Amino acid sequence: MVDETTGDKEDKTGITRRRFTLGVIIASIAGALGSLLSLLKVLAPEKKGGGYVSTIKPGDRFIYAKGANTGDYIKVSSLNIGDAVLAFPEGKTSNHANIVQLIKLDESAYKAPTHIKYTDQGLVAYSAICTHLGCTVSWVENEKSPDTSYTECFCHNSIFDPTRGAKVLGGPAPIPLAQIGVKVRDDGTLVFTSDFTGPIGPQV
Ligand code: FES
Repeated sequence: MVDETTGDKEDKTGITRRRFTLGVIIASIAGALGSLLSLLKVLAPEKKGGGYVSTIKPGDRFIYAKGANTGDYIKVSSLNIGDAVLAFPEGKTSNHANIVQLIKLDESAYKAPTHIKYTDQGLVAYSAICTHLGCTVSWVENEKSPDTSYTECFCHNSIFDPTRGAKVLGGPAPIPLAQIGVKVRDDGTLVFTSDFTGPIGPQV
Protein backbone atom coordinates (compact mmCIF):
# COMPACT_ATOMS: atom_id res chain seq x y z
CA MET A 1 0.00 0.00 0.00
CA VAL A 2 1.18 3.64 -0.61
CA ASP A 3 1.16 6.40 2.04
CA GLU A 4 -0.96 9.19 0.50
CA THR A 5 0.95 12.02 2.22
CA THR A 6 4.52 10.89 1.53
CA GLY A 7 4.11 8.54 -1.36
CA ASP A 8 6.16 5.90 0.50
CA LYS A 9 5.24 2.25 0.26
CA GLU A 10 4.08 0.51 3.45
CA ASP A 11 5.31 -2.93 4.43
CA LYS A 12 3.03 -5.66 5.81
CA THR A 13 2.92 -4.01 9.28
CA GLY A 14 1.83 -0.69 7.79
CA ILE A 15 5.15 1.12 8.53
CA THR A 16 6.62 3.22 5.73
CA ARG A 17 10.36 3.11 5.06
CA ARG A 18 10.68 6.85 5.89
CA ARG A 19 8.99 6.40 9.30
CA PHE A 20 11.18 3.40 10.02
CA THR A 21 14.36 5.40 9.20
CA LEU A 22 13.17 8.29 11.41
CA GLY A 23 12.60 5.86 14.26
CA VAL A 24 16.12 4.47 13.90
CA ILE A 25 17.62 7.99 13.96
CA ILE A 26 15.65 8.98 17.10
CA ALA A 27 16.68 5.76 18.84
CA SER A 28 20.35 6.40 17.95
CA ILE A 29 20.23 9.98 19.29
CA ALA A 30 18.58 8.77 22.52
CA GLY A 31 21.27 6.13 22.92
CA ALA A 32 24.06 8.67 22.38
CA LEU A 33 22.53 11.07 24.92
CA GLY A 34 22.27 8.22 27.43
CA SER A 35 25.97 7.40 26.98
CA LEU A 36 26.93 11.07 27.34
CA LEU A 37 24.96 11.40 30.58
CA SER A 38 26.63 8.27 31.97
CA LEU A 39 30.05 9.68 31.08
CA LEU A 40 29.27 13.00 32.80
CA LYS A 41 28.14 11.08 35.87
CA VAL A 42 31.51 9.33 36.10
CA LEU A 43 33.49 12.53 35.57
CA ALA A 44 31.44 14.47 38.11
CA PRO A 45 30.21 12.03 40.72
CA GLU A 46 28.45 14.59 42.90
CA LYS A 47 25.12 16.24 42.13
CA LYS A 48 24.96 19.79 40.91
CA GLY A 49 23.64 22.31 43.36
CA GLY A 50 25.75 21.52 46.39
CA GLY A 51 24.02 20.49 49.57
CA TYR A 52 27.36 20.04 51.30
CA VAL A 53 27.24 20.85 55.01
CA SER A 54 30.47 20.54 56.96
CA THR A 55 30.43 19.42 60.59
CA ILE A 56 33.99 20.55 61.35
CA LYS A 57 34.32 22.41 64.66
CA PRO A 58 37.28 24.39 66.04
CA GLY A 59 39.40 21.99 68.10
CA ASP A 60 38.83 18.99 65.80
CA ARG A 61 42.12 17.31 64.97
CA PHE A 62 43.44 16.69 61.47
CA ILE A 63 43.88 13.05 60.45
CA TYR A 64 45.02 11.58 57.14
CA ALA A 65 42.13 10.88 54.76
CA LYS A 66 44.11 8.63 52.41
CA GLY A 67 47.19 6.47 52.09
CA ALA A 68 49.12 4.20 54.42
CA ASN A 69 48.58 6.58 57.37
CA THR A 70 44.82 6.89 56.98
CA GLY A 71 43.26 7.78 60.33
CA ASP A 72 46.54 8.85 61.98
CA TYR A 73 47.06 12.33 63.36
CA ILE A 74 48.93 14.59 60.95
CA LYS A 75 52.00 16.22 62.47
CA VAL A 76 53.60 19.40 61.20
CA SER A 77 56.95 17.59 61.15
CA SER A 78 55.65 15.04 58.65
CA LEU A 79 55.11 17.65 55.94
CA ASN A 80 57.85 19.29 53.89
CA ILE A 81 57.49 22.54 52.00
CA GLY A 82 55.65 21.76 48.78
CA ASP A 83 53.69 18.85 50.28
CA ALA A 84 49.92 18.54 50.41
CA VAL A 85 47.66 15.83 51.83
CA LEU A 86 43.95 15.17 52.05
CA ALA A 87 42.65 15.33 55.59
CA PHE A 88 39.52 14.84 57.66
CA PRO A 89 38.62 15.99 61.15
CA GLU A 90 39.00 13.09 63.59
CA GLY A 91 35.78 11.09 64.03
CA LYS A 92 33.96 12.86 61.17
CA THR A 93 35.17 10.96 58.12
CA SER A 94 31.78 9.73 56.96
CA ASN A 95 30.76 13.24 55.88
CA HIS A 96 32.54 13.99 52.59
CA ALA A 97 31.81 17.71 53.07
CA ASN A 98 34.53 17.63 55.74
CA ILE A 99 37.42 16.67 53.47
CA VAL A 100 40.16 19.29 53.14
CA GLN A 101 43.46 19.67 51.39
CA LEU A 102 46.24 20.57 53.83
CA ILE A 103 49.19 22.30 52.17
CA LYS A 104 52.61 23.35 53.43
CA LEU A 105 54.47 26.17 51.70
CA ASP A 106 56.91 28.82 52.81
CA GLU A 107 55.08 31.25 55.10
CA SER A 108 56.09 34.19 52.89
CA ALA A 109 54.30 32.64 49.91
CA TYR A 110 50.82 33.53 51.14
CA LYS A 111 49.23 36.75 49.90
CA ALA A 112 45.73 38.22 50.11
CA PRO A 113 43.01 37.11 49.86
CA THR A 114 44.48 34.17 51.82
CA HIS A 115 43.40 34.56 55.45
CA ILE A 116 46.88 34.65 56.98
CA LYS A 117 45.45 34.35 60.51
CA TYR A 118 44.11 30.91 59.53
CA THR A 119 47.57 29.67 58.49
CA ASP A 120 50.28 28.43 60.86
CA GLN A 121 53.94 27.55 60.24
CA GLY A 122 53.34 27.59 56.48
CA LEU A 123 50.27 25.36 56.69
CA VAL A 124 47.03 26.28 54.96
CA ALA A 125 43.84 24.23 54.51
CA TYR A 126 41.10 24.52 51.90
CA SER A 127 37.99 22.52 51.12
CA ALA A 128 39.03 19.64 48.84
CA ILE A 129 35.68 19.59 47.03
CA CYS A 130 35.78 21.32 43.66
CA THR A 131 33.33 24.22 43.37
CA HIS A 132 32.44 23.18 39.82
CA LEU A 133 30.74 19.80 40.09
CA GLY A 134 32.17 18.39 43.30
CA CYS A 135 35.11 16.15 42.40
CA THR A 136 37.92 15.86 44.94
CA VAL A 137 40.87 18.05 44.03
CA SER A 138 44.51 16.98 43.61
CA TRP A 139 47.90 18.57 44.26
CA VAL A 140 50.34 19.39 41.50
CA GLU A 141 53.74 19.94 43.09
CA ASN A 142 56.55 21.88 41.49
CA GLU A 143 59.57 20.48 43.32
CA LYS A 144 61.95 23.10 41.92
CA SER A 145 59.71 25.99 42.91
CA PRO A 146 57.27 24.80 45.61
CA ASP A 147 55.49 28.14 45.88
CA THR A 148 54.26 27.75 42.31
CA SER A 149 52.63 24.39 43.06
CA TYR A 150 48.87 24.43 42.69
CA THR A 151 45.65 22.57 43.28
CA GLU A 152 43.89 21.05 40.28
CA CYS A 153 40.60 19.28 39.77
CA PHE A 154 41.23 16.71 37.07
CA CYS A 155 37.53 16.25 36.26
CA HIS A 156 37.44 19.37 34.08
CA ASN A 157 40.84 20.91 34.85
CA SER A 158 39.97 23.75 37.19
CA ILE A 159 43.12 25.20 38.77
CA PHE A 160 43.33 26.98 42.14
CA ASP A 161 46.14 29.11 43.58
CA PRO A 162 46.85 28.06 47.18
CA THR A 163 48.94 31.16 47.86
CA ARG A 164 46.08 33.52 47.03
CA GLY A 165 43.07 32.16 48.82
CA ALA A 166 42.65 29.30 46.32
CA LYS A 167 41.44 31.73 43.70
CA VAL A 168 40.51 30.18 40.35
CA LEU A 169 43.35 30.38 37.81
CA GLY A 170 41.59 28.42 35.08
CA GLY A 171 38.80 26.02 34.24
CA PRO A 172 35.06 26.07 34.92
CA ALA A 173 35.09 26.36 38.74
CA PRO A 174 33.04 29.49 39.53
CA ILE A 175 34.53 30.40 42.92
CA PRO A 176 37.63 29.66 45.04
CA LEU A 177 37.91 26.75 47.43
CA ALA A 178 36.92 27.93 50.90
CA GLN A 179 39.72 28.20 53.44
CA ILE A 180 39.53 26.82 56.97
CA GLY A 181 41.76 27.62 59.94
CA VAL A 182 44.65 25.35 60.96
CA LYS A 183 46.90 25.57 64.02
CA VAL A 184 49.83 23.53 65.26
CA ARG A 185 49.44 22.21 68.83
CA ASP A 186 52.32 21.91 71.28
CA ASP A 187 52.62 18.19 70.50
CA GLY A 188 52.96 18.94 66.78
CA THR A 189 49.52 17.65 65.78
CA LEU A 190 47.10 19.99 64.01
CA VAL A 191 43.67 21.36 64.90
CA PHE A 192 41.00 23.19 62.95
CA THR A 193 40.45 26.70 64.32
CA SER A 194 37.46 28.03 62.35
CA ASP A 195 34.57 27.25 60.06
CA PHE A 196 35.02 27.48 56.27
CA THR A 197 35.40 31.06 55.06
CA GLY A 198 32.89 30.57 52.25
CA PRO A 199 30.55 28.09 50.59
CA ILE A 200 31.82 24.60 49.84
CA GLY A 201 30.85 22.09 47.16
CA PRO A 202 29.45 22.68 43.65
CA GLN A 203 28.26 26.21 43.02
CA VAL A 204 26.74 25.84 39.55
S1 FES B 1 34.26 19.08 38.95
FE1 FES B 1 34.58 20.12 37.10
S2 FES B 1 36.51 21.08 37.32
FE2 FES B 1 36.15 20.12 39.20
